Amino acid sequence: MELVRKDLVAQKYGGATNLAYNEKIKKMIEEGHSVYHFGFGQSPFPVIELASESLKQHTGQCAYLHVQGLPALRKGICDFHRHYDHVTFDPEDIVVAPGSKELILLVMTVFNGEILLNSPSWTTYKPQAVLSGHCSIMVDSREEDEWRVTPQGLEKAVEDLSSDRYKLLVLCNPCNPSESVQLYPEGAILCSGMSKWAAAGGWRLGYHIYPRELQALRDVVASAGSHTYSCAPAPVQYAFAQVRNTLLSLGQNAAGRARALDRFAEDLIADSLATLQLTPPFVMVKTITTIYLP
Ligand SMILES: Cc1ncc(COP(=O)(O)O)c(C=O)c1O
Repeated sequence: MELVRKDLVAQKYGGATNLAYNEKIKKMIEEGHSVYHFGFGQSPFPVIELASESLKQHTGQCAYLHVQGLPALRKGICDFHRHYDHVTFDPEDIVVAPGSKELILLVMTVFNGEILLNSPSWTTYKPQAVLSGHCSIMVDSREEDEWRVTPQGLEKAVEDLSSDRYKLLVLCNPCNPSESVQLYPEGAILCSGMSKWAAAGGWRLGYHIYPRELQALRDVVASAGSHTYSCAPAPVQYAFAQVRNTLLSLGQNAAGRARALDRFAEDLIADSLATLQLTPPFVMVKTITTIYLP
């Protein structure tokens, strides 16, 4: 008898390639190799200073918190999206977790229906679908559509699926590899966190915002969170809750600076790659946006 689930053994279920790559490259750099590291989507900027100062003040916060997150932090998240995205949420709609990655796995685990992923997409979505016991259905996207999910692509992906089953599409915005911007349709679960814009990936703070019609899903994801991670790290939640009042101006400056620098670096790289005149299967895709928010 196998110790590990048969389907995982059959698929040779392995770890996240981007994290493995990152470790390998860190070692190569330590060994003195000169490496231009494009294998990992981590912000190259320092964590925003105010959050860093605030974290130092909250190291004593060692009590477990509400599984959905500190109320002040959830209110801050609502203010942020009201300001930037002109959408209004209620703090009750939010579930905070140690990274949005955890929440994507939990929502897939409790979801009753088919999981759709756009191809190409981030390295972890498919292994998460496998782990949660789903066969993922791929929605193909094409270079000429800037790798956006199109209505035609979606129709083709669902044509053989039963229409009375729910479908959950994991849509990254902007999407790899072109970073094309796709709009969130109504009824979507918004998934974001502090990893990219606040350069705090290793602090592990992410969140989901559920629309009212998906309240049942939110409640079971929160229950699953209470049985797995209990709460996101308390000092980190306090730190981001404290910067809430200045979050908007900070976010604008930090993200604006990061975008300008990213754009500069990406233009430089794109121009250099263009001189190589790559031939298929290698193609150079110039990005449209420079930063994404998970
Ligand atoms: C496309 C995409 N989705 C989700 C995540 C998960 O982010 P986190 O768990 O750090 O919030 C990442 C992180 O690298 C990502 O690049």
